[in-house]
Amino acid sequence: MRQTVNLNHKWAFSKEAAEVPAEFPKNWVFVNLPHTWNAIDGQDGGNDYYRGTCYYAKQILKSELPQNARYYLEFCGANASAQVYWNGECIGRHDGGYSTFRTEISEALQEENLLVVSVDNGENETVYPQMADFTFYGGLYRDVNLIAVSDAHFDLEYYGGSGIAVTPTVQGDSAQVRVQVFLNSVKKGQSLFYCLQDRDGKHVSEAVCTADCTEVTMEIPKVHLWHGRKSPYLYTACAELRENGEVLDRVSARFGCRSFRIDAEKGFILNGEPYPLRGVSRHQDRWGLGNALLPEHHEEDMDLICELGATTVRLAHYQHDRYFYDLCDERGLVVWAEIPYISKHMPKASENAEAQLRELIVQNYNHPSIVVWGLSNEITMNGSDADLLETHKHLNALAHELDSTRPTTVAVVSMCDMHDPYLKIPDVISYNHYFGWYGGDTAMNGPWLDRFHETFPDLPIGVSEYGCEGLDWHTSDPVQGDYTEEYQAYYHEELIKQLFTRPYLWATHVWNMFDFGADARNEGGENGQNHKGLVTFDRKYKKDAFYAYKAWLSDEPFVHICGKRYTERTEEVTKVTVYSNLPTVELFRNGESIDRQTSREHFFYFDVPNIGESRIEAVAGEVTDGFVLQKVDSFPEKYRLKEKGAVLNWFDITAPEGYFSLNDKLSEILETDEGKKIFFTFAEALNRKGKGEKIAGFTMGADMLKMLGGFTVLRLTGLLGTAGVQVEKDELLELNRQLNQIPRASNIAPSDEGAGTP
Ligand code: GCU
Repeated sequence: MRQTVNLNHKWAFSKEAAEVPAEFPKNWVFVNLPHTWNAIDGQDGGNDYYRGTCYYAKQILKSELPQNARYYLEFCGANASAQVYWNGECIGRHDGGYSTFRTEISEALQEENLLVVSVDNGENETVYPQMADFTFYGGLYRDVNLIAVSDAHFDLEYYGGSGIAVTPTVQGDSAQVRVQVFLNSVKKGQSLFYCLQDRDGKHVSEAVCTADCTEVTMEIPKVHLWHGRKSPYLYTACAELRENGEVLDRVSARFGCRSFRIDAEKGFILNGEPYPLRGVSRHQDRWGLGNALLPEHHEEDMDLICELGATTVRLAHYQHDRYFYDLCDERGLVVWAEIPYISKHMPKASENAEAQLRELIVQNYNHPSIVVWGLSNEITMNGSDADLLETHKHLNALAHELDSTRPTTVAVVSMCDMHDPYLKIPDVISYNHYFGWYGGDTAMNGPWLDRFHETFPDLPIGVSEYGCEGLDWHTSDPVQGDYTEEYQAYYHEELIKQLFTRPYLWATHVWNMFDFGADARNEGGENGQNHKGLVTFDRKYKKDAFYAYKAWLSDEPFVHICGKRYTERTEEVTKVTVYSNLPTVELFRNGESIDRQTSREHFFYFDVPNIGESRIEAVAGEVTDGFVLQKVDSFPEKYRLKEKGAVLNWFDITAPEGYFSLNDKLSEILETDEGKKIFFTFAEALNRKGKGEKIAGFTMGADMLKMLGGFTVLRLTGLLGTAGVQVEKDELLELNRQLNQIPRASNIAPSDEGAGTP
């Protein structure tokens, strides 16, 4: 029988070593896995985290290993490229930081062994991702195992797969389940035993055959369907390789029986019923830990996503830990799984995109939660060309060849024209739109989607990303781009109303469930993070917007008062927003009822007298929520955004009345000829600072500018950190001086409706 030994404990680690050590390096630091070397510098801003090669070393004594014929090392995540050295000899190499790979060591195993793994997250042109809005934490950040098997065994070498593939097909009230196994070194006389077990371990079907019969189809009569969050019923398929009554090897896989289709008009249909996919995207990393996570971290994430009431999760922008896909199966979340083919097509990396897709599918084929394979994200950000198209055609065909049961998809960048030929390649598509954050306003989202739907009535469309930054800054007058918790909540209220009332959208995913590390970002007063999460990076605080979703999606009765971190207010009558999934909410101030409202939109707005100290309580059915509001004379500075380490803060800027300044929105400045001239001269100078004609590889083209028009120029220059460009204080002051000369246009034309219009 196979034995699996976990090897996470006690590795020697070095960032300084220049080569593979010949002996065990006792003077390196000791670490346990999971481990990343970027837990701190990958989250503190500045785009300066260490990207290069580090080494891990471990001593392995044969006497401590289980006795068996063949031995494999299993790496569940080494970001991004790894070389495995066994007693000084390179025995394996793997490119791609998010998938499992294995290396056989049977022949080379001695009594005392030195395992060294060099892991490299440095820049290159051949391994995805290289450019994206998240930190590429380097390290052996998932489990490392040793698997000992008999000579004949279920395959461990094919793209990190499990050696068993299960394909259930629902037919009436039963299911036909095809089980395929992949074997290594079988001999005559060996046999296979197959079985299907229900959730309680009871065998519902069995089959016995010779070892060359690597595919059987078994029936489950009266099948329990896997029905998303409502009933995530799982079966287990197992296969045993036997010889003379002895079990040589055994593999098993959980699976679920469900049918689904994606309809361009009706959206997602699960087991014949409409099952709206409304949910979130997830990045895996955490504050202080980077991507080096323990099972309890995955479990906490899953609990939060379920509390929100999501029915779907987009596991962006790469393959996640297999434990997380397991949790999705168990809890009934419908998953979009994808590879990190992102932001920028790299002609020399297509082979790597293909390998990562192959691994994603082979390793995750059995998960009933997964319904689509994502081929790429915002890949036309810097334009599209023939090679990009070819690569997509190729990836699309590969996904279908490896898995005929699931459609393919792509997440399209907002400004990509909806007629772009690459949109015709996958089976379904989704757009990333930020109208109301980067550019445009919230009201543009629904109409844009309706136009797409009218233009392409047969192509299912979803929203793969939408979101808005929200931190612990506060205001009673939220405006786009202010980074307050209040604007974020307002944005999501608007988006929920538009997206959740359009049943044709096959899936919608908030960007993002959690704040995440993006070391190149310099935003919102907390550098190194993207704060579009509904929950903070440390998972400790659920922002108000979280409850807006809970109100629409969850069945667990609750009431939530917004603005509990904003308790000191100046106005005499203040707005208190309440979210609840119950129909009626009554609000009390110091025990007296202010108002009782009934709404089907789950959002309730109250005008509350703000005098002295007010104890505010919201009551809905059996549930309550409350906080203490305080009247103050002047606006507390602690609520006002302060950029951290900013070259210039908004309050340092001169803004003569009637004239532009860095504090104005780019879109408004570009409405004037003078403003256009000044901004483009400035942008050209920035382009020269970047690499060649581009800023960190991106052309500051008209579409990009349109997309970013909703930001003030100051914020925008802060955002450029993401593209690796630092704008200096004197450059900003000079630009401000020039803007101060331009009178605001008196008749600003209404802004158009965003890019990609038909
Ligand atoms: C992009 C991208 C994300 C990114 C997000 C953002 O569209 O796909 O990776 O984090 O937008 O700007 O916040």
